[in-house]
Amino acid sequence: MTAPLNAPDYVKHEGLKKWVADIAALTQPDHIHWADGTQEEYDRLCAEMVKAGTLIKLNEAKRPNSYLAFSDPSDVARVEDRTYICSEKKEDAGPTNNWEEPAKMRETLNGLFKGCMKGRTMYVIPFSMGPLGSPIAHIGVEISDSAYVVVNMRTMTRMGKAVHDVLGTDGEFVPCVHTVGAPLEAGQQDAKWPCNPTVKYIVHYPETREIWSYGSGYGGNALLGKKCFALRIASTMARDQGWLAEHMLILGVESPEGEKSYVAAAFPSACGKTNFAMLIPPKTLDGWKITTIGDDIAWIKPRVDADGVTRFYAINPEAGFFGVAPGTSEKTNFNALATLKENIIFTNVALTDDGDVWWEGLTKQAPDHLIDWQGNDWTPEDGKAGKKAAHANSRFTAPAGQCPSVDAAWEDPAGVPISAFIFGGRRATTVPLVYQAFNWNYGVYMAATLGSETTAAAFGQQGVVRRDPFAMLPFCGYHMGDYFNHWLKMGKTVDATPKIFCVNWFRMNEKGEFMWPGFGDNMRVLKWIVQRCKGTVAAKETVLGWMPKFEDIDWTGLEINKDEFEALTTIDADAWKSELAGHKEWFDKMGEKMPRELVLKRELFEMGIFKDAA
Ligand code: OXD
Ligand code: MN
Repeated sequence: MTAPLNAPDYVKHEGLKKWVADIAALTQPDHIHWADGTQEEYDRLCAEMVKAGTLIKLNEAKRPNSYLAFSDPSDVARVEDRTYICSEKKEDAGPTNNWEEPAKMRETLNGLFKGCMKGRTMYVIPFSMGPLGSPIAHIGVEISDSAYVVVNMRTMTRMGKAVHDVLGTDGEFVPCVHTVGAPLEAGQQDAKWPCNPTVKYIVHYPETREIWSYGSGYGGNALLGKKCFALRIASTMARDQGWLAEHMLILGVESPEGEKSYVAAAFPSACGKTNFAMLIPPKTLDGWKITTIGDDIAWIKPRVDADGVTRFYAINPEAGFFGVAPGTSEKTNFNALATLKENIIFTNVALTDDGDVWWEGLTKQAPDHLIDWQGNDWTPEDGKAGKKAAHANSRFTAPAGQCPSVDAAWEDPAGVPISAFIFGGRRATTVPLVYQAFNWNYGVYMAATLGSETTAAAFGQQGVVRRDPFAMLPFCGYHMGDYFNHWLKMGKTVDATPKIFCVNWFRMNEKGEFMWPGFGDNMRVLKWIVQRCKGTVAAKETVLGWMPKFEDIDWTGLEINKDEFEALTTIDADAWKSELAGHKEWFDKMGEKMPRELVLKRELFEMGIFKDAA
């Protein structure tokens, strides 16, 4: 028997109701609940999850209105090898995505989704990516059998009743179907973290703009507004509609004179995007200020301003931060810690004896006793033996509005104008501290060849360069070659084209030590970048692009000499020779769809480098 639809009166969209009814008929939940996004609903669901053992309520005095979840050990991260782009044609998904024929995938998923919500409640979660009604925002509706997903979506998106007002009777929405893939037989005791430990599918149909996710309750696998919608599906929408959906943070840079510039920056996962987005400048850089619009995703659309000039305007489509906890401390990211004071859902961090949370890197010294992310006793002795108290990918879900550095315009439906795009990876050698592309197409080349060295924790090998173009490798919903082409085309759609920069905070000396202090001192590089955009600071021309001379950067308060700066910025011709060979290998992988423009650029680039080295 199918559960009654229970649609509230304020839901006026017949197409939405029919879709919900169809999914209910397939998945056979016991109940259907239409999420309204209210605090009462949030509190009730959290209380139910505390009762079920899914959430632990944290000490109200220390961490008000906050909870901790421990996931199943099999369900701790995004599953890239189970993520599919099911376009009609294989070549439209491209060589960097897993692909399956849509009809075949639908058959597989229909089998898996049949009866998958038995014994559970099906939640209908309406959400807006971006401020409600913004011309840059888009709407999605997620159906999920996880209450954990409902409460996380409330923090991460604009979720609830008001979305139905924007949708009206026939508004467009991206349908997202999610199940933990663990139906319950009558009387069966539920797991604390239900999921399917063996079968997981994260599936995107770009032509019909649908998302289907099976088997995981964790992060980007389950909170479908984030990577699935805001990047994979949105990137295909952006290609078709002439805008950009990017894996970028957005920050504001304010000069002592109160002049504000906004920049968007792409760094591969685990390169410190959240830290950069919330950077606190050194006190010695008098009066410079950073404000935060977003830490992970940017949606950017061209707009003609009153002065007749077309510019890119960006919003953060999310309303919260789903940040990695380990390594976050008052020293590395003061603003993030201040954001985490209340109203937080932590997942897979450790629990302290006084009902608060802890993770590696939060304090120098670990507490004497903890409950680790797997629910076991943990002491510093375990830490010495290499056992982590918090999972390396443990997370916090935090409302962006609580961040002390949040920008006054972070919810402005019009978005903020973008002056510069910054691309950076983790490179021990080869890539200098900062350089500026000669023009848009050169910048696209730099971003298309962006690489990052794998960290031992993430990939089991140290120091192998993994190409991560535009930091979009796991997030582009179509062929990477077409995506490069889209970027080349987009440069022609705006008059005030943002300047493009490459940075590398991770260069090392022969002893394997980082040469650049990073964190707050990145402000020095940012200052040069925004001044370049305004044309108020000098640079020298190099084969790679425009680079600062020693005296072009504000060093007030930092001990650095010309030799150290030279070591951070030197262009090693031999290293670039093999770098460019790496670019060729990478471009060859893209095949026919690789834009000629970039292939030619590589050849010219090679000549330039070699000429300079001779
Ligand atoms: C993320 C990622 O979690 O990029 O944001 O992996
Ligand atoms: Mn990310």
